[in-house]
Order: sequence, then structure tokens, then C-alpha cells
Amino acid sequence: MKHDLWLLAALYFSCAVKAEVASNYTDAILSSGTVKLGDWQDAYEKASTFVDSLSTSEKLSIITGGGGRNLSGIEMLDSSSNPINYYFVTAWPAPLAIAMTWDKNYIVEQGEALGAEFKGKGVNVGYGPTVQPLGRSPWGGRGAETYGPDSYFSGIMSGGLVQGMNKAGRVSGAKHFILNEQETNRQGSSGGMGGMGGGQDGPGGNSTGDSPGGTSPSNERRQVIGNTTSSSSEAYSVTIDDKAFHETYLATFYDTIRAGVGAVMCSMNRINDTYGCENQETLSKHLKTELGFVGFVSPDAGGQKTGIGSANAGLDYGSSSYWSNSTLGAGIANGSFTEARLNDMVIRNLMGYFKHGQDVSYPTHAGYTDAIDVRANHSLLARKFAQNSLALLKNTNNALPLTAAQRVISIFGTHAAPRIVGPNTALTVQSGVASTMDGHMSQIGGSAMSSAAYLVTPFQAFNERAAKDGFMLKWWLNNTVVTSSGSGMMVSDGTGTEISETTTGIAENSDACVVFINAWSGEGADRSELRNEEQDALVTAVADACNNTIVVVNTVGPRLLTQWDSHENVTAILYGGPLGQESGYAINDVLFGDVNPSGKLVHTLAKNESDYDSNTQISEESELVFSEGNFIDYKYFDQQNKTPAYPFGFGLSYTTFGYASNLSISSDSDKLATVYALGDLAVGGREDLWDIVATVATSVSNTGSVAGAEVAQLYVEFPAAADEPVRQLRGFQKVAIQPGQVTAVKFELRRRDLSIWDVSAQEWAVVRGEYKFWVGTNSRELGVSTTLSV
Ligand SMILES: *[C@@H]1O[C@H](CO)[C@@H](O)[C@H](O)[C@H]1NC(C)=O
Ligand SMILES: *[C@@H]1O[C@H](CO)[C@@H](O)[C@H](O)[C@H]1NC(C)=O
Ligand SMILES: *[C@@H]1O[C@H](CO)[C@@H](O)[C@H](O)[C@H]1NC(C)=O
Ligand SMILES: *[C@@H]1O[C@H](CO)[C@@H](O)[C@H](O)[C@H]1NC(C)=O
Ligand SMILES: *[C@@H]1O[C@H](CO)[C@@H](O)[C@H](O)[C@H]1NC(C)=O
Ligand SMILES: *[C@@H]1O[C@H](CO)[C@@H](O)[C@H](O)[C@H]1NC(C)=O
Ligand SMILES: *[C@@H]1O[C@H](CO)[C@@H](O)[C@H](O)[C@H]1NC(C)=O
Ligand SMILES: *[C@@H]1O[C@H](CO)[C@@H](O)[C@H](O)[C@H]1NC(C)=O
Ligand SMILES: *[C@@H]1O[C@H](CO)[C@@H](O)[C@H](O)[C@H]1NC(C)=O
Ligand SMILES: *[C@@H]1O[C@H](CO)[C@@H](O)[C@H](O)[C@H]1NC(C)=O
Ligand SMILES: *[C@@H]1O[C@H](CO)[C@@H](O)[C@H](O)[C@H]1NC(C)=O
Ligand SMILES: *[C@@H]1O[C@H](CO)[C@@H](O)[C@H](O)[C@H]1NC(C)=O
Repeated sequence: MKHDLWLLAALYFSCAVKAEVASNYTDAILSSGTVKLGDWQDAYEKASTFVDSLSTSEKLSIITGGGGRNLSGIEMLDSSSNPINYYFVTAWPAPLAIAMTWDKNYIVEQGEALGAEFKGKGVNVGYGPTVQPLGRSPWGGRGAETYGPDSYFSGIMSGGLVQGMNKAGRVSGAKHFILNEQETNRQGSSGGMGGMGGGQDGPGGNSTGDSPGGTSPSNERRQVIGNTTSSSSEAYSVTIDDKAFHETYLATFYDTIRAGVGAVMCSMNRINDTYGCENQETLSKHLKTELGFVGFVSPDAGGQKTGIGSANAGLDYGSSSYWSNSTLGAGIANGSFTEARLNDMVIRNLMGYFKHGQDVSYPTHAGYTDAIDVRANHSLLARKFAQNSLALLKNTNNALPLTAAQRVISIFGTHAAPRIVGPNTALTVQSGVASTMDGHMSQIGGSAMSSAAYLVTPFQAFNERAAKDGFMLKWWLNNTVVTSSGSGMMVSDGTGTEISETTTGIAENSDACVVFINAWSGEGADRSELRNEEQDALVTAVADACNNTIVVVNTVGPRLLTQWDSHENVTAILYGGPLGQESGYAINDVLFGDVNPSGKLVHTLAKNESDYDSNTQISEESELVFSEGNFIDYKYFDQQNKTPAYPFGFGLSYTTFGYASNLSISSDSDKLATVYALGDLAVGGREDLWDIVATVATSVSNTGSVAGAEVAQLYVEFPAAADEPVRQLRGFQKVAIQPGQVTAVKFELRRRDLSIWDVSAQEWAVVRGEYKFWVGTNSRELGVSTTLSV
């Protein structure tokens, strides 16, 4: 029965696209009852009752950002870093940093605190999480805005953020739907017919990216930045096979929808030659029916190209220059559009609003500079998340933690100290912006940029600690290596404090030399390099002169370290994402051992740039083929049998951990009896996809002498018939363990975790055969394994 529906739908789509007729994917209309509403039922009834009282012009007002009756309009804003552009909000660690904590509790905690800040400012819908770009390409400019390229991991973290935000009573919005994996050419430079989403009424695309009409449906206020001038007149179009489309790209959206997002932002790029916001296949068939999304779809800036076309495709919120009585109203009159769909659009816009009781009491929408301070004690949380996100990649000779034995410490690099200006200038990454930041990099650019009220740099934190602990601090706050003092300068003989004003002069005679480097990018432009000559030369110059050189890296994506990581004097490496307003304290806390590092990599660090899949390089082509399918990041390295420098999931500690030699597994054979998930379509897809079907358990012990936290990771090898990557992450648990103690860890596998997308059946299937499970400390150090026959 269900299969037939899909088949009909598929036939219908191929005709609809070719014939360019108005489409009517009726299953995606909530009143069709196709998707079980569950705990959204009450919101649906309230929204329906309200909509029944509205005139057509009031309905048109609401779907274009205005009010109607006693609704004053829905306020929306970016991002998962903070309520963008507002005064007196917390500048949180960027998603890449939070991701590196591998902590399922922290992400919920952050979501709740961030949600409260949006609510305090009277913003109804906050756009976060950014689940895509997923990070298919290490060169992608927007990697720090998301949770890393493993879709299981990204799904868990994104879902956690949504749960937290929901607790705060704020509507959460996921973006960008879908396949928006690079910035280059994401937006066409000129008009055109805007794809083939059935749109026959649009006067041609309008991809200037300006907020079109009335209030601003361009929710991503900063989306319009960057090198949007492209040689092609259309945004790039992505094609990908259906299996990888589901398993790698739709997968993360499943989690956010199940967790209860009320909004989804469609992307600027095209999919199968049709724009993301004009695409009935992706919006109505996949998002609203297969995944059971019941909220509203809104366009990324410039994403809407047509009137009736976009509304029929599945866009629910758009511009009054496209949606008016002369387009949608006339469409209802002549049959190319329906009243039922218009009502559906309004209802969808209000689902989150009613679900979170925003009709009852919600703070008044504040102006950007209003003195409403919503930060509470969130600085403590921001510092805690940042501390626990840092990954220790190397630590020899007990270089870390730094102790009182280090009487003279020197710090190097512009990344140690503030930028000349900051922190709240418009940090766009438009053409011409460097791939590193001249000053401390603690946030990302574009629509997830910070609105920091202050920024603690490493320079500040080191000075405070030197004043308190009594060590001597020297600094060289430049990336340029200087080896001899220029003429006219006082040349020192190195006696006492009278040292030469050179990089090496500072490095010599230090007990520890801490070099700070960064990599920078953000929305609007992709990365041009994965390492930096000047900063690498700085590390090497310091290491040549200082036998205890510690490198601190803050980056927006994979940053290669092999130029110097095996240098005998590079004793330690600490690696993290953009850490937010408490950055300097967090780094300092870990360097001095107040906090034992417990972060782990969420992307693979290759030995060499050429080790990454060349097919994932940024392309200027207008047609992008994601032919690597599911094989991105560690799945590519495993498939190619390439050894990474630092594998996905890697991170050391000041203590050591041991894994038990036995893994136990239990499974629910009843729940695994059918090949296909057959449950009702509900919010988050077929209900039984979320059933727990198996549980793997083992234990981890702290074999060192200090307390620490370990992230135990579960990887699964599917039966060969499943045609899956060598191994895939399917569980993780972070546990704090006292020295000498043993802690149990348990991984619950949901049906979907063992499912693959069966392309011919168009369903999720658990392939029959033998599954192998490993638990270990990273994706390449997997100890014991066990198997399960299904
Ligand atoms: C909508 O599509 C269905 C087939 O899926 C068709 O039976 C129906 O006539 C269509 N309605 C309109 C108004 O085009
Ligand atoms: C119906 O009206 C819309 C909006 O004016 C117009 O774009 C479309 O061409 C009309 N369709 C038909 C079949 O008349
Ligand atoms: C496109 O944008 C320009 C500039 O904002 C505006 O003048 C024009 O009317 C828009 N065209 C459409 C079709 O909305
Ligand atoms: C912007 O993109 C165009 C087309 O891809 C390219 O030719 C141009 O060099 C880019 N400009 C900069 C400053 O990167
Ligand atoms: C793109 O089109 C192909 C061929 O019709 C289809 O198999 C595939 O599922 C489509 N992909 C998406 C993401 O719509
Ligand atoms: C809206 O459009 C319809 C159909 O063209 C027309 O009959 C109606 O008078 C219009 N309403 C307003 C308020 O302009
Ligand atoms: C408008 O007021 C009515 C009556 O108080 C209430 O039931 C309804 O939820 C309100 N609608 C909105 C959108 O707030
Ligand atoms: C922060 O404030 C909240 C709410 O007042 C409180 O529950 C929590 O314990 C505080 N956290 C810390 C670390 O002080
Ligand atoms: C670093 O030093 C170089 C060479 O002396 C100089 O040109 C540059 O302006 C300095 N950079 C900063 C950020 O001070
Ligand atoms: C390591 O540092 C010492 C100075 O402490 C220096 O003499 C030595 O040459 C350095 N080693 C390398 C390989 O540069
Ligand atoms: C590093 O150099 C210092 C002198 O600057 C020396 O006292 C120390 O023993 C050296 N350490 C190692 C591990 O070579
Ligand atoms: C990286 O690969 C390039 C090209 O294959 C090679 O020339 C270069 O030496 C390699 N670099 C390192 C650090 O291995």
C-alpha cells in the first residue's frame, strides 16, 4: 500500500517536471493525515482553528512574514552561536567546538541556554542547528558551523541542540536543506527560470539575495556575503545516488525532525537541476512526507525563485513580491494552486508557535541594541564546553600540563592576542579575506558570527596566571619570524632579561614555548588551504630554538600538522575549534591542568592535503556529482586504506584508559524480524526506525593517576550485501572516571542505526547477515569486537 503510494508519487514527479505543470503533492499537506502528528496534534488543532478565522489577505500576510488578527508576526534569527547581532548575549563556542566535546549532555545544555537567550530577546524562531554543510569537503568554508562529516554523529548532536532549545520554549530551525556542501557558486549570479519546480508564474529568478518584500524572509541576515559573483548564471546543481542521499545527507535531518524542529531552511543551491526552495521532490516528498516534517520551510536568502511554483513545491514562508493575491490568489481562482495548500502553509508557519505556547506569553521582540541582558551565568557554561572540547593530539616528555617547574614561559603568534579591532565587526569572509586570522580566532564568520560582549584571549589568560602563579611571561605576538635584530636596534648579548627582539631571542631560554596558530573561513567563501606556510614556519622556527614547544591550534576545519608535528622539540599539540568568548581561559585551563583534556576529533587529519578525496575539492562547475557517495572523511580513508595522521575520534588525555576485553551484545529478534521498517509515517519518519533493536555493553577503566573523561566509540561493520563503508560510528558515550576506577558503557542501537536505504524498495532495510561491532578509543584504534547475526 505504502509502496504503491511512493511509486505513484515517483511517476507523478517525473511527469510533473517534464510537463512543467503545477504540482499537488497532497501527502505533504498536513490535513491529508499522511503523517501522524503525535505530540504536535494539539498545535495543529490550534493553528487550524486560527487559520479558519483568517481572510486570504491575512493568510498571505502571515506566510510573507507579517501578522494577522492577534498574531503580530513570527520573528526569526540566526544562529547556533548566539542570537546574531544582539547586544548582551553569550558568544558560545562554535558548533565544531561543541561537537568536539562528544558530550550528549553538553549539547542539550547549550541548546537550552541558547534557546533562553533567543526567548529573552523575544525571537520566536532561532535558526540552529546548521546540520549541512555536513563537511563532505575539508575545503568547505562553513565547516565550523556544523558538527562534522559523520552523519550519525552530526545527527545526535544536532538533535540534542534541538531538544535543548525546545526545553527553552523557542522554535528551533534546521538548515540547509539540502546538499549545500560548498560556498562557491552556491547562489546563481543572475536570473533565469529558477529551475523546474513547476513554477510557471515567476518572472524569472531573482537571486540578488536581498531580502525580498515586506519583512525579511531572508532569515540568514548574513547570507548575502561572499563571492557570490560566479561565472555561471545558476547556482551549482548536485546529483547524488539515492542510497547516499538518504544515508549520508537526509540522515541528519531525520534526527532534527524527530527531536522537534519547527522550521527548516531550504538551500540556495540546486538539486537535480531544481533549486532547493523550488524542489517538490526534496521538500514535499522527502522532507514533509518521508521524514514527516510538520513545521514550515523558509528560504535561504535569494532561494525563492517563483510564486506558485515555490508554494506548490513545498516552500511555506517567502517573499510578498512572489506571493500576493495576484499570484497565489489568482492561482486559486484558475486551479493552478489550492486553498488547501495555502491553509497548510499558514498552519505550518504556526505549528512551532503553538507547540511552544508562544501565543500565551512570550517576551516582546527586543531591538538589537536594547539593554536586555539574557546571559545569566552562561559564561560558566561557555567556558566549560570550550575546556572540554580541546583535543590533545600529542604530549611527550610530560610537556603538559604546564606546572610551577616552568619558570619562564613564552607565547607566540598573532592568534595569542586580540585582533586590532573587535570583537564585533562584521566578520564576513568575502573575497580577499585571508585563510588565517590576524588575532585570536574564537568565532566564525557569516550568519553564525558572534555578538560577543567581550573576548578573553590567551594573552590575557596567560598574563593573569603569570601574575597569580609567579612565572615569567614573554611574548612574540606576530607570525613573521625574525631571526636578527635590524640595524639601529639595541643588540643584546642575551644577558638576563636583555634579550634580542627576535623570534628566536624570545624562544631561547624559555622553559616552555607555546605557539598559537589558527585557520579561518566562514560562510560565503571556501578554504584555499588546509595549512599555512607562515604559521608553519613560525612553529618550526620556535621549535628549532626551544626544546619544549607546545602548539595550540584553533581551526574552522581540518588543519594539517605534519609539517612539524614530528619535530623532536614539538612536545605537545592542543587542537580545537573556535571557542567563543571564554577562549583564552579555556585553553589556559587545559594547558595548566585545571581541566584534563577530553575532546576528540570530529574530522580526519590527513598527512597530506592530497590524501583527501580529490572529488571533494571545491569546484567551479555548475554540475557537481557527489560520486563518492557515502565515502567521506574516515569512510574514504578506510575504503582507500590510507593512514591518516590523526584519525576521526582521536584525542589523548593526561591520564590513560583501558577497555575491557569482553563486549556483550543483546538484541530484540522480534523487532529485527522484518527487513523493512513498516511503522506508520510520523514526525521523524516511520515510527519503528527509532525502536531500540540491540544493545552493546562493555567497560572502560582509568589506568592513570588523574581523573579524566573518555569517549568510548562504537563502530559497526555491515554485512557485505549492505554495500556500506568499512566501519561506521553508531554509538558513543563520554564517561568521567576516577583513577583506578572502572565504568560501564552501553550503546543502544536504534533500528535506523542498522538500516540501509533500499533503493528499489524505497524503504529503510535491515539486511540479513552478520554485523560486527567494535568499541574503542577512536576510529582506528578498535580493540575488541563481537558479532550479531540478523
Ligand atoms: C493531484 O494529483 C493527483 C494524483 O496524485 C490527481 O489525481 C489529482 O487530479 C491532482 N489534482 C489536481 C488539482 O491537479
Ligand atoms: C493561473 O494564474 C497564475 C497567476 O496569475 C498564472 O501564472 C498561471 O499561468 C495561470 N494558469 C492557468 C492555467 O491559467
Ligand atoms: C529582483 O530584485 C530587484 C532588486 O531588489 C527588484 O527590483 C526586482 O523587482 C526583483 N524581481 C522580482 C521578480 O522579484
Ligand atoms: C569570485 O568568483 C569568480 C567566479 O568563480 C572568480 O573568477 C573570482 O576570481 C572570484 N573572486 C575572488 C576575489 O575570489
Ligand atoms: C535525482 O533524479 C534521479 C533521477 O530521476 C533520481 O533517481 C534521484 O533520486 C533524484 N535525487 C534527488 C535528491 O532528488
Ligand atoms: C484576489 O484575487 C482574486 C482572483 O484573481 C480576485 O477575485 C479577488 O478580487 C482578489 N482580492 C483582492 C482583495 O484583491
Ligand atoms: C488569538 O486569540 C485567541 C483567543 O484568545 C487565541 O485562542 C489564539 O490562540 C490567539 N492566536 C494567536 C495566533 O496568538
Ligand atoms: C547557573 O544558574 C542556574 C539558574 O539560576 C543555576 O541552576 C545553576 O546552578 C547555575 N550554574 C552555576 C555553575 O552556577
Ligand atoms: C608582523 O611583522 C611583520 C614584519 O615585521 C609586519 O609587517 C606585520 O605588520 C606584523 N604584523 C602584525 C599583526 O603586527
Ligand atoms: C631542540 O631545541 C634545542 C634547544 O633547546 C636545540 O638545540 C635543538 O637544535 C633543537 N632541535 C632541533 C631538531 O631543532
Ligand atoms: C631543554 O633545554 C633546557 C635548556 O634550555 C635543558 O635544561 C633541558 O634539559 C632540555 N630538555 C630536554 C628534554 O632536552
Ligand atoms: C604531499 O603530497 C605532495 C604531492 O603528492 C608531495 O609533493 C609532498 O611532498 C607531500 N607532502 C608531505 C608533507 O608528505
